[in-house]
Amino acid sequence: MIKAIYPGSFDPITLGHIDIIHRGLAIFDQIVVAVAHNIEKKSLFSIEERKRLIREVLKESDRVTIDSFNGLLVNYVEKVQGNVIIRGLRATSDFEYEFHMASINRHLNHRVDTFFMMTAKDYFFVSSRTIKEVAMMGGSVKGLVPEAVERALRVKFESLPG
Ligand code: PNS
Repeated sequence: MIKAIYPGSFDPITLGHIDIIHRGLAIFDQIVVAVAHNIEKKSLFSIEERKRLIREVLKESDRVTIDSFNGLLVNYVEKVQGNVIIRGLRATSDFEYEFHMASINRHLNHRVDTFFMMTAKDYFFVSSRTIKEVAMMGGSVKGLVPEAVERALRVKFESLPG
């Protein structure tokens, strides 16, 4: 029984994240989507809004749960008795940061390993940060985020095209 933790800011969740979750479900028995309280990043959506949006697009089941955590990821993984961390890799530019993060996490807790999945080719240029920037400037994010996220972005940025 392998329980994988998929941590991130998810500010907001994109179709790239959802693709990783669906593919992860073919490998792992359970996935916990864990929204981080990130002290360094100023977020557009609150933790509760992010969790609500994730719940709208992913049906919670005995295989998929949605949660949030404060503090160190490895402590959270231990607390929920997870076995592995999942991270998506979009490009070589993600590699250095992810390599550092996986290394420090393993240094902090050698029982916790990180499993990387390459992002699907349709989403390798999609990040929550660029989605927010495009939406803020009135560009279309259709096909890159779930419709519920598009609607929520429209509430934040009224100029977003319909
Ligand atoms: O979606 P993101 O912003 O790339 O996710 C980064 C996240 C939340 C996974 C990372 O910042 C994290 O694990 N934060 C929790 C604090 C922590 O454990 N830091 C030590 C490892 S860098």
